[in-house]
Amino acid sequence: MRQAACVAGAWLACGAVPSPALGATQRHPRSLLVDARGDALASRQLKPGQAYLFNYPFTASPVFLLAFDRGVLPAELETEGKQRYAAPAGVGPNRSIVAFSAICAHKLMYPTPEISFIGLRKGGRGEPAQVIHCCGDDSRYDPQRGARVISGPAPQPLAAVLLEWDAASDRLYAVGTRGGEMFEAFFEKYAAKLELENGNAQRKPSGASVVVRSAASYSKRWQTCST
Ligand code: FES
Repeated sequence: MRQAACVAGAWLACGAVPSPALGATQRHPRSLLVDARGDALASRQLKPGQAYLFNYPFTASPVFLLAFDRGVLPAELETEGKQRYAAPAGVGPNRSIVAFSAICAHKLMYPTPEISFIGLRKGGRGEPAQVIHCCGDDSRYDPQRGARVISGPAPQPLAAVLLEWDAASDRLYAVGTRGGEMFEAFFEKYAAKLELENGNAQRKPSGASVVVRSAASYSKRWQTCST
């Protein structure tokens, strides 16, 4: 049976209270998550507390894939444009796997093959155990609450990437996004840079499968924010 991220109609299964005015879902072509050999990635291969990345819904747009040691509940959030939406609950056997766009909602910093200024880090005092922290201007997001903004200048949460989990095969699929997508601004701002990194395929859809890599192998250097 396939378990989708909690969407309208699946709220009861997710143990959450439905809200009448939630939206901001963008459907994109479905992509199977695979490992570096091209084999389907099993959710059990993900280590809790470790960051992984894949590119979705475009070959140039990075996404954080995160597993936690406990279930992640849906969170009611709002985009910069005041559109309310439900960031999905976790998927997988423990409902603990979530994914978010890795493009910072402030000035669009993102992990590149050379360096990343935005990553999963240990939370500080009064924060969750782990936060997504962008060194650019110190925006911090809570990955267990829909990547809501904890602090910093980011005007909205990171966009959630909708996942589906197939219980029979343990496979994972990316099927869309919810929240404030920033792809238009991203491609506009980094047109020349993305051209160098990705050739002329900067808006190419991810395709039927996307490779999941550990954060360490996605970017050569992960900026610590303290240097
Ligand atoms: S670009 Fe991420 S906080 Fe400014």
